[in-house]
Formats: sequence, C-alpha cells, structure tokens
Amino acid sequence: MKIAVVGSLNMDLTVTAPRIPLKGETILGHELQYHPGGKGANQAFAIARLGTDVTMFGCVGKDAFGNQLVDNLKSTGAETKWIKQIDQAKTGIALITVGEHDNTIVVVPGANSYVDINYINTVKDELLQASLVMMQLEIPSPTVQYVCQICHEANVPVMLNPAPAILLDQDLINQVSYLTPNEHEAQIIFNDTSALEDLLRRHPEKLVVTRGALGAIVADNTGHIISVPAIDAVVVDTTGAGDTFNGALAVALTEGQNMSKALQFANTAAGLSVSKLGAQSGMPTRAEVEELLKTRSDP
Ligand code: RIB
Repeated sequence: MKIAVVGSLNMDLTVTAPRIPLKGETILGHELQYHPGGKGANQAFAIARLGTDVTMFGCVGKDAFGNQLVDNLKSTGAETKWIKQIDQAKTGIALITVGEHDNTIVVVPGANSYVDINYINTVKDELLQASLVMMQLEIPSPTVQYVCQICHEANVPVMLNPAPAILLDQDLINQVSYLTPNEHEAQIIFNDTSALEDLLRRHPEKLVVTRGALGAIVADNTGHIISVPAIDAVVVDTTGAGDTFNGALAVALTEGQNMSKALQFANTAAGLSVSKLGAQSGMPTRAEVEELLKTRSDP
C-alpha cells in the first residue's frame, strides 16, 4: 500500500442554481444530481485516478448510498475492503448548492461519526504500512489525534487537510508532516491572523496554503517563499478541487518530487478537476496532468 486515507465518505446532493441564495432567501434552482463525495473519499479517488495505490479507511451506512460510494471508489482502483458498513447510522450526506462558479456545502456526517478509535484499532496494522496517511476533519477529532499519534510513533508521515477548519493542538501540528489549509482555514487552525508569509515561514515545507485561482504557496527551509500559480481553468464546479489538490500533492511527494514540482503537479490536477459537475467527475488521470504540465514552464 502506498497511500492511506482515513476520512469521510458522503453522497453529495448537488443542486445547480443561478446563484447562491442569501440568508433567509428562496430561489428556484435548475436540477438536483447525486454525486459521490466526502473529502476523504474524494482524495482517495483523486489518488487512484492518478494511478497510485490507495486504501480508504472509513464508515458508511448499510444503505443504498453506502453501497454506491464503496462501489464507486472500488471502480477507480482504490482498496475498499477496510471500509466498515454500520447499522447504527446512515451514510453521510452533503447538501451542495452550485451557482456562479462557487458553492456552499452543509455536511451531515452520519456514519462518518463512527470512524472512532475502536475502528482505528481494528485497522491499525494495515494503516501503519502506508508510506503516507491522509486525513481531513470530517471524522471525529479524537480519531484524528489518535491517528496522528500512532503514525508519529511508527514514523509514518501524515498529511492533514484541516477542513472543515477548527483550532488545532500544537502537539498535533508538531506530529504531522504536511498541513494543507486554504487561506481562511489557515487563520482558524492557528488562531492567528499574522501575515500569510509569517505563518508559512514558521512551518517551512509543512504548511501548504491553497489560494483558489492564485494557486498554492509554501516556505522552504531557508524561508524562501514558493508560490505556484493555478492554471487557467474552465470552471463548471469547484467542489472537490481542494481534494484533488491534496490527492495529487500526496502522490507527487510520496514519489520524491520536490515541493515546487509537487505544487505544480497538484495545481494542474486541481485545475483540470473543476471542468465537470461533481467532486470526482472531473478528476484527471496521470496522462492528462502530464500532458498539460508539458505546456507550462517552471516556476
Ligand atoms: O471537498 C468537497 C467535499 O466536501 C464534498 O464532496 C462534500 O461531500 C464535502 O465533504
């Protein structure tokens, strides 16, 4: 196993509308579509699409959405045998409104809340064989802390995409190898409104901040700031772009690419992913990313 993802699986109920409604407002939308989602499953799907071995750890309900989500991940080549189908809760869902190239998302975790320490202990031996473990924050926080701790003890690097963002413990920050918030999340996880470059320099080669159309930014070990622009993308739906970025970044870093190249690879994959409706529908293959990378110059 190369990369392990411990995280959420959701069915996304995606409504397209002329725009995102205001608070208290009713508007008429275009249509409702069901798309596989969940930040964990999306990142695993992105990795599998890029041709890298990935194993998904998480929970779904014993219901139709649960079956569909597992089958969907399996169909792209991800290992799904450790995903637990549970009786106690329904599969997680996300209510998504897409309008004017933007979105809003409300997640109801359901079975994702059962990704607890007991579950992790049943899969621990398998999990610790990974060369990188990825997590997000759609599963319970004690689980995230526990996985960080056991990975740290076993020298397995962790990439934490802190979304949805909460204030993070300093111990946990010390234990992870990579933290990948967007700009807004970066302020929340550190409870710090310092200039972005100061935050980056305090966490060189660890804190990678995504900035939407501006691309991604990181500080190297000398304090030099590396900023890699996003590609010009045809935007249909940005849902899952961050997950594609994380998945591709993990692929590139586990292959030993340097940070600058890895960011270019991840930005390119994320840029391609927004061309279709649904978090996973536009996620590119390795060949598609490499083809586009050829047309870009070094940062
Ligand atoms: O990052 C996008 C994802 O966030 C969606 O697929 C939705 O399920 C929520 O988890």
